[in-house]
Amino acid sequence: MTETLPGADVPNPLDEAAITAAVDTAVAAIDGASTLDELKAVRLAHAGEKSPLSLANREIGKLDKADKAAAGKLMGSSRGRINKALAARTVVLEAENDARILVEETVDVTAAPCRRRAGARHPLSTLQDRVSDIFVGMGWEIAEGPEVESEWFNFDALNFKPDHPAREMQDTFFVEPPEAHLLMRTHTSPVQVRSMLERAVPIYVLCPGKVFRTDELDSTHTPVFHQFEGLAIDRNLSMADLRGTLEHFARQMFGEAAQIRLRPNYFPFTEPSAELDIWHPGAKGGPRWIEWGGCGMVNPNVLRAAGIDPDIYSGFAFGMGIERTLMFRNEVADMRDMIEGDVRFSEHFGMEI
Ligand code: DAH
Repeated sequence: MTETLPGADVPNPLDEAAITAAVDTAVAAIDGASTLDELKAVRLAHAGEKSPLSLANREIGKLDKADKAAAGKLMGSSRGRINKALAARTVVLEAENDARILVEETVDVTAAPCRRRAGARHPLSTLQDRVSDIFVGMGWEIAEGPEVESEWFNFDALNFKPDHPAREMQDTFFVEPPEAHLLMRTHTSPVQVRSMLERAVPIYVLCPGKVFRTDELDSTHTPVFHQFEGLAIDRNLSMADLRGTLEHFARQMFGEAAQIRLRPNYFPFTEPSAELDIWHPGAKGGPRWIEWGGCGMVNPNVLRAAGIDPDIYSGFAFGMGIERTLMFRNEVADMRDMIEGDVRFSEHFGMEI
């Protein structure tokens, strides 16, 4: 009984030539599969439930008892060939696949990193922290006040007379409406008065912060800049205490070879007042005296305005610009570099200053 059974391409399970041809076709397809996915499709087509061989296998049941054994043997050896071919091809393709993944997913540990730039701390912030740390190290506290300030704190309480030129429009940004008597603080000195009103004596405070003046932007001026103000109020404070404090501060900032010099000057809020010069041992172009800021003994009128009895307490105060300090301490030639916000400027100062 060798005639072809009904059904499209179902070989007769006894037709050795047809079965062998189907197995040859299957093995050729298996060997020709070039990926594991292709091999899966080939397996389905040639060894799956609907493959010609499986269909032929099903026909065995319909055969005469005598033919069943021969057909079963033929089918068994056919399956064996196909399974062997599948197993061999699977080994090859899996090895190829592993090798490809190893290459494609290689991590090049020597490749240059492409990190997102994290920005940098601005040297003015770093310098402000350094100044603050020096005073905190002496037991002083940090005090703050508002940038939009009342005219009274900025001028009147600091003993500026009503006609003082610093009140004029060309120096001060006034805030409308005029009857509110608000302005952008022109210096950090109003924090002196706020500190005296808010705190109990003795007072030792450092007040860093932003200040505003109607200056045109150029290499040595900017309308928004930073100052730090120092204020000490205690019994028996004298000019000697002021000098000692500033000298210690100067040496912390500029090294042990730094010296200070006080030259008589006038400020409404201090009496006597002095201009503070620093002998900067590491100055570019050699050691020299550099004007650094103002200082003096707190004027009794200022103590009275803040409710402190000048017959019991005395005090000293000083104020410096942070931009100016950064300029001569860290050799920044143009103040505009500090406000342009180019991260490359900040980066070269690092985290320490
Ligand atoms: N406030 C002054 C200014 O902006 C600086 C100053 C001078 C502050 C003398 C002081 C001082 O505390 O005693 O120019």
